[in-house]
Amino acid sequence: MYLGLDLGTSGLKAILMDEEGAVVATADHAYDNPHPQPGWSEQDPADWITACEGVFDALARDVPEKLADLRAIGLSGQMHGATLIDADDAVLRPCILWNDTRAAEEAARLDTTQDLREVTGNIVFPGFTAPKLLWLQTHEPDVFARVAKVLLPKDYLRLWLTGRHVGDMSDCAGTSWLDVGARDWSETALTAGHMGRDQMPDLVEGSAPSGDLREVLRTRWNIRGPVVVAGGGGDNAAAACGAGCFAEGQGFVSLGTSGVLLAARDRYAPNPATAVHTFCHAVPDRWYQMGVILAATDCMNWLSRQTGQSPANLAAALPDQIAGPSDLSFLPYLSGERTPHNDAGVRAAFVGLDVGHGPADLTRAVVEGVSFALRDCLAALSGTGAQLSSVIAMGGGARSRFWLETLASTLNLPLSIPASGEFGAALGAARLGLAAATGADPAEIMSPPPIAETIDPRADLLERYAEGWDRYRGLYGLVRPQ
Ligand code: XUL
Repeated sequence: MYLGLDLGTSGLKAILMDEEGAVVATADHAYDNPHPQPGWSEQDPADWITACEGVFDALARDVPEKLADLRAIGLSGQMHGATLIDADDAVLRPCILWNDTRAAEEAARLDTTQDLREVTGNIVFPGFTAPKLLWLQTHEPDVFARVAKVLLPKDYLRLWLTGRHVGDMSDCAGTSWLDVGARDWSETALTAGHMGRDQMPDLVEGSAPSGDLREVLRTRWNIRGPVVVAGGGGDNAAAACGAGCFAEGQGFVSLGTSGVLLAARDRYAPNPATAVHTFCHAVPDRWYQMGVILAATDCMNWLSRQTGQSPANLAAALPDQIAGPSDLSFLPYLSGERTPHNDAGVRAAFVGLDVGHGPADLTRAVVEGVSFALRDCLAALSGTGAQLSSVIAMGGGARSRFWLETLASTLNLPLSIPASGEFGAALGAARLGLAAATGADPAEIMSPPPIAETIDPRADLLERYAEGWDRYRGLYGLVRPQ
């Protein structure tokens, strides 16, 4: 048996998978995400341990014999968070998460460091790890002075599971301290971030072993043999492993709270100027690139709060079929934007509101606006040489047929819709566990999920959506901060 643990922003998800790759059990445990000040987003690492104990307890109760046969664990997690520990491995303060923007000034300053974009392959975004430590140095110098190690969230969980300080390349690629092409810590980047290599965890590939489950934990849950803990991956890399996005040309689009368009790459081809993210994949000699928009279904949730209608009701009022974009435009920058603008200050807008427009028109404009924003991501990805021939669609927004049809015709890409079942980051993590324990070829294990249906772009409407995207792009100039 192989266990995938995905340490998300709202909870921990566990998937137990057998030797054939079939899911035999799942468990979840939620935790809080406090926002103690505007723009701040934190979590108590102790809550992650409680959640991990919770999912192990649940599996030990529900499938004790299967858990007893556990051979490996793979870890996946929210990226970029700074978990700070002292020389005795004690946590120094709450973890500062990926969606915390307090270090925006430090990020902008760090981003101007000579060669840093070239070495790390990315813009230093405010949510990345390095600027958080610069913020800490100024605002909490006593804590900064005691930082013995900085661990990403899933790597703190690994410390508890194995007693070892280890990170994997895919997750560490989002710190702004890693040389993403060389897959190693960068002296240039560490010096710019006022950090030392001794404060970094050891690095392993996601599909390689990183340590063994501590005996006290094996005994606690009656697990028989030794259990390897794999390097694992950042959540998007792990999701790519779960969805079989592994080779050049394979990718996924995720309509979650935020939106992601991801392409697997067999070469390192960064292009920070367009705010594309270029990170190591969770398997050796591979990378992936993605465009990230900060609000996808979050825009629908916002509209739902304003209209008092549930997102499902809003979606139900959409037309049965697409017919080209409407005259009403929506710019989905409710929380600023990463790709392609790297603009934390820009905000959203409806443009072209008419006295006759109602909630159904606003919903349609939101669907179209988010789809155009993902079209921006596709353009940014194409600029790196990434060529997607079709993508797997996932996330809550993928439940809307109208949204999928709009997106397929906006991206001019067929969208593959998986049959129901597991194919996300927790499954990807379990697969990395299997690779670490058995030495199996990742290319064999990372298969795509069974596809229920493919939604093709509508040839008769492609031009209309291309014109709509042109109009949309022109509107950014109206809302960007002057
Ligand atoms: C990736 C990113 C998010 C987080 C949280 O750059 O910020 O995907 O990993 O899920």
